[in-house]
Amino acid sequence: MNKEVNTFSHVSVMLHECIDALRIDPKGIYVDCTAGGGGHSYEIVSRLTEGRLIAIDRDSAAIEAAGNRLSPFSDKVTLVHDNFLNLSDILEGLGINKVNGVLMDLGVSSHQIDTADRGFSYMKDAPLDMRMNREDSLTAYEVVNRYSEEELRRIFFEYGEEKYTPKIVSAILKRREESPIETTGQLVDIVASVYPRRHDEGHPAKRVFQAIRIEVNGELDIISPAIKAATDALDIGGIVAVITFHSLEDRAVKNEFSALARGCTCPPDFPVCVCGNKPKLKVLNKKPILPSAQELESNSRSGSAKLRTAIKI
Ligand SMILES: C[S@@+](CC[C@H](N)C(=O)[O-])C[C@H]1O[C@@H](n2cnc3c(N)ncnc32)[C@H](O)[C@@H]1O
Repeated sequence: MNKEVNTFSHVSVMLHECIDALRIDPKGIYVDCTAGGGGHSYEIVSRLTEGRLIAIDRDSAAIEAAGNRLSPFSDKVTLVHDNFLNLSDILEGLGINKVNGVLMDLGVSSHQIDTADRGFSYMKDAPLDMRMNREDSLTAYEVVNRYSEEELRRIFFEYGEEKYTPKIVSAILKRREESPIETTGQLVDIVASVYPRRHDEGHPAKRVFQAIRIEVNGELDIISPAIKAATDALDIGGIVAVITFHSLEDRAVKNEFSALARGCTCPPDFPVCVCGNKPKLKVLNKKPILPSAQELESNSRSGSAKLRTAIKI
């Protein structure tokens, strides 16, 4: 077992809320799209008798760690190293037609952030990487050193909501004319150098790191197609549950749930529906479920978490 797997640590967020929301049928088939350290997966599979769990993660270290954690239930678990965007193909490859529940616990694990050489953290000096799947080709290094001024501005504004974007981008462009920006530490110094000395935005590099991570892993673009694929895979009465960690993700989940609950895609001024699309989901909680006061106190990472759930109709 490699060291990274051996030391995998991640405290699952809103564990009991997710398990309650999924209304687990002991004979059902469930998909954990973001297995991570296997925390949610463990609680799901331990409630199954004849059922089955498909545990997916795009990070091979997570798949290995989840495999270890779930080993007591190995006859009921199928581990898949893939992007959950490929859910339809994954299920087809396994000969599964319909499932009873799908969970997505989006974003990165504490383990990924805490493993310095993955380059996710602005607190640890490391090569600029940030890939969840280390077989992917796009790295943070490519984004920081090769993206045009317009592309950098777009991702810092859109994915980081960073108000000092123009100054930060200018500083990056100036610096990379001299030599490539190789490490997270160098990037942090560049961002910090243009930030006002007094500000109340937390760590200056927080939003830039979030933006680059979202870009490297295509995190926002996959939410809508992945929820559509999950909805198609669900049997009637099956549940889709999604945990998000920032407003951009939560908005994407909320919008996709609303679109699938509406069904009809005709323009609002059409007198009658001509598209014929019927609602596929019913949203179960209009407002997102939030972590309890107790969880907020014991796990700071849960601070920004929101859980949205819907049922297939
Ligand atoms: C917040 S952690 C999940 C933690 C897990 N629920 C637990 O209890 O241990 C998110 C995980 O999702 C994985 N992930 C993120 N986006 C993914 C995607 N598009 N496809 C597959 N895995 C993804 C990450 O690699 C990471 O391991």
